[in-house]
Amino acid sequence: MFIALEGVDGSGKSTQLALLAEALGPDTLKIREPGGTEAAEAIRSTLADPGIPLDTTAELLLFFAARADLVRRVIRPAIEAGRTVVSDRFVDSTEAYQGVARGLGVEVVHELNRIATDGLLPDLTILLRVDPETGLARAESEDRFEAEGVAFQRLVAGAYEEIARREPDRFVVVDGSGSPEEVHTRIMAALGSKARQ
Ligand code: TYD
Repeated sequence: MFIALEGVDGSGKSTQLALLAEALGPDTLKIREPGGTEAAEAIRSTLADPGIPLDTTAELLLFFAARADLVRRVIRPAIEAGRTVVSDRFVDSTEAYQGVARGLGVEVVHELNRIATDGLLPDLTILLRVDPETGLARAESEDRFEAEGVAFQRLVAGAYEEIARREPDRFVVVDGSGSPEEVHTRIMAALGSKARQ
């Protein structure tokens, strides 16, 4: 099984991913995007640094380079070995951030996602819904995207809502407000109800 967590910056995904992985058991593979391989972590540090000038199309392609390496060398083999994989972000981040918020186009993101992942999609994607302003205030660092400010995060949030509406079978939207324990309880309840569907 493959589960992804999505949300605006500061939505609490990383904390929730750790709690979810713990709840799913010791054999669960926890990854983050961009990252999860040596090459993808190197790409991540370039992408995260607002001090490194980067053209937006180059930025887009770097996300796909990182994803292709992670999917082919880590995620697929783990799924084939029967492991559960949980990921902090996946394909929908690129649609929301680059496709919509950066305005590079949703179609091109779909096509490049298909090439990078060979069509692999999560079985379930959990969207943590938080107010973008609250999220931005909570985000610890100032990366390239957080530096874009609240209007950018609002575009990202709107794009996520749209994807969740378009793909109701793959998505579950969870209220990200409250304590980490409260949000975790909601996520586990959502997982349970999806499993019964
Ligand atoms: P994230 O790990 O959530 O940030 P943090 O350092 O706060 O834990 O994600 C890194 C940033 O990369 C985040 O601002 C969202 C952005 N991003 C994209 O723009 N497109 C993508 O495809 C992905 C995976 C991330």
